Amino acid sequence: MKETELRLLLREMSLEEKIGQLVQLPGYFQHEGAATGPAGDMGLTQEDLRLAGSYLSIIGAEKIRKLQTEFMAQHPHHIPLLFMADIINGYRTVFPIPLAQGCTFDTEAVQEGAAIAAREAAAAGIHVTFSPMADLVRDARWGRVMESTGEDPYLNGQMAAAMVRGYQGDNPKKKGKIAACLKHFAGYGAPEGGRDYNNVELSPRTLLEDHLPAYQEAVDAGCEVVMASFNTLDRVPSAANEWLFREVLRKKMGFSGMVISDWNALQELLAHGIAADQREAAFIALRAGVDMDMTSPIYTRNLKQLVEEGRVPEAWIDESAWRVLTLKNKLGLFERPFKDADEEDEKALLLSDAHRQAARDCAEKSFVLLKNEEQMLPLQGDEAAFIGPYVGSPYLNGAWSIFADDQDTVTVKAALSRHPKTKKAPTAPGCPINDPDQPVMGFQQPVAQDNLEPETALNEAVSIAKSAQKVVLCLGEHRECTGEAASRGDLTLPKCQLRLLEAVAAVNENIIVVLFGGRPMDIRPLKEKAKAILAAWLPGTEGGNAVVRTLLGESNPSGRLSMCFPYCVGQVPIHYNHLNTGRPYHGDCHAGRFGSKYQDIPNEPLYPFGFGLSYTAFSYSPVRLSADRMTKQGSLTASVTITNTGTCPGTETVQLYLRDLAASVARPVRMLKGFRKVALAPGESREVSFTVTEDMLRFYDLSMRYVSEPGDFEIFLGPDSQTQNKARFTLE
Ligand code: NOJ
Repeated sequence: MKETELRLLLREMSLEEKIGQLVQLPGYFQHEGAATGPAGDMGLTQEDLRLAGSYLSIIGAEKIRKLQTEFMAQHPHHIPLLFMADIINGYRTVFPIPLAQGCTFDTEAVQEGAAIAAREAAAAGIHVTFSPMADLVRDARWGRVMESTGEDPYLNGQMAAAMVRGYQGDNPKKKGKIAACLKHFAGYGAPEGGRDYNNVELSPRTLLEDHLPAYQEAVDAGCEVVMASFNTLDRVPSAANEWLFREVLRKKMGFSGMVISDWNALQELLAHGIAADQREAAFIALRAGVDMDMTSPIYTRNLKQLVEEGRVPEAWIDESAWRVLTLKNKLGLFERPFKDADEEDEKALLLSDAHRQAARDCAEKSFVLLKNEEQMLPLQGDEAAFIGPYVGSPYLNGAWSIFADDQDTVTVKAALSRHPKTKKAPTAPGCPINDPDQPVMGFQQPVAQDNLEPETALNEAVSIAKSAQKVVLCLGEHRECTGEAASRGDLTLPKCQLRLLEAVAAVNENIIVVLFGGRPMDIRPLKEKAKAILAAWLPGTEGGNAVVRTLLGESNPSGRLSMCFPYCVGQVPIHYNHLNTGRPYHGDCHAGRFGSKYQDIPNEPLYPFGFGLSYTAFSYSPVRLSADRMTKQGSLTASVTITNTGTCPGTETVQLYLRDLAASVARPVRMLKGFRKVALAPGESREVSFTVTEDMLRFYDLSMRYVSEPGDFEIFLGPDSQTQNKARFTLE
């Protein structure tokens, strides 16, 4: 529809109709879809349902075509509904969780994953996905770290933009494309104590410099929708934060699309103590710039009266309704209200071989080899027994894969039995995933317990461990232990799994752990007892195949940690790009008391950001700079030569970090500013160069200006965030 026609339509719409556009109803009003939050009585009338702008969580071409047809027929202006859903790491073909996708350091693979998710979801009738989540995360207690791409602003920005490109392509109207919704604006990844929905305290500088850049990248990539976060920021809940949306998001960051609240967040303004009643909540949220109210009764039941009382100018309603209509128009819904919903396409696309293959490739790229002593890996084939609750587990998708079917998932056991080299491998669960005395709540109901008799299961596992050359232990947290509302105060593995580890280690010292789960955990016992550890995260539909291929060396691990593994929970929040303190501790002043350190645990994480091994080895030349001085208008080149010094082909992820040695405000000890993946054959060398420009050196100075300051900088080029391979230059 032409913009002039759309304007005309808006002008013709009644106030009730315009308010209707600002309302998103939960799918369960149509007896469909999962409730992804507490389901309250919205107290809506048939008329309210008749005018709604959008539904959440309804999916499936047939259902959506039917609902759209019926809805449009009765709507006064036949305005189509917008269908949105949480397509987070895939729809039916599930890719690794976003945290694992971050570990790929491969924006093309991530973009492709989002493109496939979009293609499947579009065929199933979806118009908008609630992804990417670009929240910066530094606290592994927070269950939603699984949905982020990690602890680094630059990496998160690259990944968020890649996802937006994947979902939307160059035009979300095109076939197989959907609009992306960036979330959760802003700072949702930093809840106090790592507890979900908790308040967030960030200094303005930390917000601007560490948290906003990834959101900005997604906005710059053309993301059509932004979701307001649940949390308070400086004591104001986002859904009430006029400054955040009107000043920061729209004026400073240049976002012109639609803003949606999170689930029931407008109603939650009452619990926050920001609004005394629903009427007030409606006023505050609309004033803040929240265009669409997700699943709360607040807009539907209050905006009309507020306009009639003269408290809310109708222009505010028009502005928000215009944004909703514009999004519908950008998606082409006025001409093609079903967009790509097509049952034939669903049949052809969902879980197609090509999609499964891409999911497997992405999973393999996301695996991080944390330890590999005595060349435990790769396996030859038949020398290992496979033990642990994750051997046969189909729960390899993250908690957000609410539309996937676990029956489509390839378990490790299934993959072993299909592979000629491992089809005879002995397997045993050894124990359940969760401790029986620690029930875990899923989205809708408690997670079912594995029905195992503990002693029999343990004895069986020990017996097969005894007679095997090596043992692959498949351990980890249940997928429902991460995701929304899944914060934890203890990051160790379930007790039953630690007991299994002990028992197996007592009879076989050649242990390889494949670690599953949605967050970095306290894995000290694994590091102590296992000779090899492969972090496989929650790898998705093709997880089993990806794991078996990797263990056999058919795929060489190249993933790098997008979030460090803390030494233990006492260190969190922890991140590599911290400030130095006035008393930095380098492990060299043990005798003294007064360094910035703990008395009982190290400062360093167990495994740092950017870390990951390969079945081959790489060497780095010293860093070469094209010049040791740079003007603000100029640039310089930093290069390094990488050599594959091992015996098999492999991919190295070269990481560029910068450090500003003295500035008007304290600067991080280093910051990732670039990365490059290089595939090298054994003996092969390659020069890798990065261009350094002045904009990479900018920060918010003492007066909150975004500038660079002349002085000395260090540049690091190496395999992880602890590299000491560095050179120095001066910015004039
Ligand atoms: C709440 C979550 O915070 C958000 O990420 C999600 O998209 C919505 N529910 C919709 O399910």
